[in-house]
Amino acid sequence: MSTQQGFGLLKGKKGIIFGALDDRSIAWRVALACHREGAEFALSNAPVALRLGTLDELGKQTNAPILPCDVTKDEEVKELMEQVKEKFGKIDFILHAIGMSPNIRKNKPYVNLNYTFYHQTLEISALSLHKILHFATEEVNVLNDGGSVLALSYIGAQRIFSKYNDMNDAKALLESIARNYGSRLGHRGIRVNTISQAPTITSAGSGIKGFDGMYAFAEQMAPLGNPSADDCADYCVTLFSDLTRKVTMQNLYHDGGFSTSGITETLIENLAKAYQNGE
Ligand code: NAI
Repeated sequence: MSTQQGFGLLKGKKGIIFGALDDRSIAWRVALACHREGAEFALSNAPVALRLGTLDELGKQTNAPILPCDVTKDEEVKELMEQVKEKFGKIDFILHAIGMSPNIRKNKPYVNLNYTFYHQTLEISALSLHKILHFATEEVNVLNDGGSVLALSYIGAQRIFSKYNDMNDAKALLESIARNYGSRLGHRGIRVNTISQAPTITSAGSGIKGFDGMYAFAEQMAPLGNPSADDCADYCVTLFSDLTRKVTMQNLYHDGGFSTSGITETLIENLAKAYQNGE
């Protein structure tokens, strides 16, 4: 963990963390950081992911129940919210760390997408945020006034990264849903934000062809270098805490400065060397 010492920032807070698959997952690192800060939470993932069994270890470490939920299924999202309400009463935060593109997995180029897969990409990676918010605030009403909802995004929403394919579109939609829903929950003091995280070595990340190149480029372009999943977890903690009560409808870059960097000395030197060597 990047910060060893806890600050008690989430003492007394309860939540749901979606998307921890293995110990590299951003959600896994967020769960450890939230536990360190005194939060209680449920861990959720799709039944097929839970069958791998790795989440049990995190559940034990953080004393968290594990609740299955395929976020594409309305009834499963509703049931999850009901189970959480039964276990915890009302909750204060939700992390959406869910993303998947069957088109990327099956190497379908953007100009020749499979439309069934495209629909799945959008449903899993973006519409699911709407669904989670809907069931958490309307149908089951498990989210406290003053709560904080956070989803993980990528700069592909603003600028096209060719290898990110239809996930560029999914992240643009995800960020729009965060703003649109955030505007409707402000009267209850509930904030909805996205964190635009730099390339991070995880199952989803390294499943993208060309990920190593994207990672290395971002690393050289960002004055602070790429933030790790643990760094991202610390940032999430601040956004779940009461210290950020008036931050909502934002897409917050967590990328070491990548998004506002034109070019860096390191990149210029390395490009010059590569051209000299005829690479
Ligand atoms: P990951 O593979 O560990 O997490 C993705 C999660 O989505 C998995 O736990 C998977 O089981 C879950 N998921 C997929 N389909 C689901 C469904 N139908 N129902 C419920 N859960 C489902 O990878 P990572 O990198 O931790 O991804 C978390 C989030 O961070 C994603 O939204 C990703 O797009 C985003 N992100 C990742 C970056 C990276 O470079 N790794 C960079 C920027 C954002």
